[in-house]
Amino acid sequence: MTKAIVGVIGGSGVYHLPGLTDLREEAVTTPWGEPSDALRFGRIGDTEAVFLARHGRGHRFSPSTINYRANIDALKRVGVTDIIALSACGSFHRELYPGMFVLIDQFEDRTYLRQSTFFGTGLVAHVSMAHPIAPRLRRRLAAAAQAEGVAFKDGGTYLCMEGPQFSSLAESLGYQARGADVIGMTGATEAKLAREAEICYATVAMVTDYDCWHEEHDNVDVAAVIKVMNDNAEKAARLVAHALRDFPAEHEPCPIGSDRALDYALITHAEA
Ligand code: ADE
Repeated sequence: MTKAIVGVIGGSGVYHLPGLTDLREEAVTTPWGEPSDALRFGRIGDTEAVFLARHGRGHRFSPSTINYRANIDALKRVGVTDIIALSACGSFHRELYPGMFVLIDQFEDRTYLRQSTFFGTGLVAHVSMAHPIAPRLRRRLAAAAQAEGVAFKDGGTYLCMEGPQFSSLAESLGYQARGADVIGMTGATEAKLAREAEICYATVAMVTDYDCWHEEHDNVDVAAVIKVMNDNAEKAARLVAHALRDFPAEHEPCPIGSDRALDYALITHAEA
């Protein structure tokens, strides 16, 4: 059995993880380049955790310029088995209001300017992304949200746009009509790379705004996102701390094989 080590990736507004004890920081380099920031190692309860600020401290990398491959590879290199990804998002439903969390189970990837695979030339692999979220990790997050009294919806589709500009009204209405529940700029890329790295991955999508489709709400802007994000960050910290305190010491095999994703994915022939 492998020891469980939980990676926590903090998005906009989440640049550190309160409650981490025995804190130690290390700059990890990878063949893919530098991660967004140094990794911060610590413990919550008996669970080992590693925190990474997705955009870097001070928010220095836009969604298109984050080195996602370095971020995921750095976490893999230090033994992370599970990733909890905290991500701000816009909402396409009145009932998914700012301040609410969505434990999404699907992504639609509309990005086009970033590297979202470790496999390109020389070694080709096609992993399954039918179910991008590790179900047991998601259930743990749901139980933690419930216990902490954090309002959340279990399940939903996250549309991942390129950005950095927010959507036009036509785009927003189009995404809403095709069934997206929330919108963000980072989740799908990370989920794909985590799957290729055989790390269980689950997203806590934290609603900050109604994008620009809602007639009774202002169109999203950075000020609105930051205002709600600060409250969301406090709730996210409580949720993560709860989930980590309850985490099993050993990583249990993922029911959908997120942690064995490469077993049937490599297509390159050894003799070629
Ligand atoms: N992150 C937070 N709100 C967002 C929105 N409306 N669109 C894309 N990313 C977001």
